[in-house]
Amino acid sequence: MNKSLLITGGAGFIGSHVVRHLVNKYPSYMIVNADKLTYAGNLQNLTDIENADNYRFEKIDIVNEGEVFALFDKYMFEGVIHLAAESHVDRSISTPNEFVYTNIVGTVNLLNASRKTWNDHEGKVFYHISTDEVYGSLGPEGLFTEDTPYDPRSPYSASKASSDHFVRAYHNTYGLPVIISNCSNNYGPNQFPEKLIPLAINNIKTGRKVPVYGKGENIRDWVYVEDHAEAIDIILHKGVTGETYNIGGNNEWKNIDLVYLLCELMDQKLGRPEGESASLITFVKDRAGHDKRYAIDSSKIATELGWKPAHAFREGLSKTIDWYLDNQKWLQNVLSGDYEKYYEEQYLKR
Ligand code: NAD
Ligand code: TYD
Repeated sequence: MNKSLLITGGAGFIGSHVVRHLVNKYPSYMIVNADKLTYAGNLQNLTDIENADNYRFEKIDIVNEGEVFALFDKYMFEGVIHLAAESHVDRSISTPNEFVYTNIVGTVNLLNASRKTWNDHEGKVFYHISTDEVYGSLGPEGLFTEDTPYDPRSPYSASKASSDHFVRAYHNTYGLPVIISNCSNNYGPNQFPEKLIPLAINNIKTGRKVPVYGKGENIRDWVYVEDHAEAIDIILHKGVTGETYNIGGNNEWKNIDLVYLLCELMDQKLGRPEGESASLITFVKDRAGHDKRYAIDSSKIATELGWKPAHAFREGLSKTIDWYLDNQKWLQNVLSGDYEKYYEEQYLKR
């Protein structure tokens, strides 16, 4: 093994795709996945690679400083890809403190452990995975660039913005070799069914109402999760420390149009008459402080590092729907916790 890499949050949605990608592509790296296994983390996401020689799992809470330092002492990591986070905006509105602990305190613990471990910075990198939501909300025109001033507006995006600032501050103050990337909305297999796309797929399948916030006119830019994992690999190997890279799908959709497209594809796949799934669409009370539009200018990563998304949206959505329809056991498992309680609080009382 010639490189020891820590991936935090590797049992979650994006993290599991990143772990699989790196374990399969770089047999000479030791990939250590450190995850607390919250409601969003699930080792079933990684059963195909769990016995690989170059993979280890460690259950830790990044908020616990002692656990983080002990992990670094054990593996002496040369690189960190930090994905562990509380990631859902609606949960951040009802329980913001968890977001402060994990997203801010947890990130600072990892920065401190990297700083203590790395006497020299040759070949080292602390790579923080962040979101385009730190830039705030766009009007009908314009795109987020790497120079857009931060303007986070939800407790989730405020916590991610804060962690980004800490990462940059450790670069500026201590010279820690850091990279940040800010990505738009991901979709694909293994996403917990609280986010729009997997929630809508599951509700359409089971005949539940499909909740659309407000008038459904908010806009998001969607990127397939495997394209994001590929971008992370490229940035890890070719990115310049101290730099930020925006990652986007160049794929803006109004929520209501996206939900109609999902309904159309689900009617075809389930053999339902056209329009049956769309009859489940229900407009519900809007999210508090709902950001209107996110859209990314990803020309920097395209021109400097040669990345662009490989999946067309219909193709990616079709693969995603097929995965959820074929993995009902996975769904039952992740929905078996306190999901119904969560669903009642978020939707039935809305
Ligand atoms: P997720 O919620 O699916 O997974 C998060 C993972 O972090 C889970 O496995 C969870 O168990 C783990 N975790 C949470 N708290 C922890 C703690 N205290 N200690 C250790 N592990 C902990 O999230 P995701 O959607 O895969 O997002 C991963 C990262 O990418 C996050 O940092 C998120 O901000 C960022 N991001 C997500 C998106 C998106 O669309 N999902 C877009 C851009 C950036
Ligand atoms: P989400 O998947 O939660 O991602 P984010 O808020 O981080 O962008 O939501 C995507 C969009 O869909 C967002 O504008 C909120 C909206 N939305 C709904 O209309 N209904 C839902 O049930 C959910 C979860 C989200």
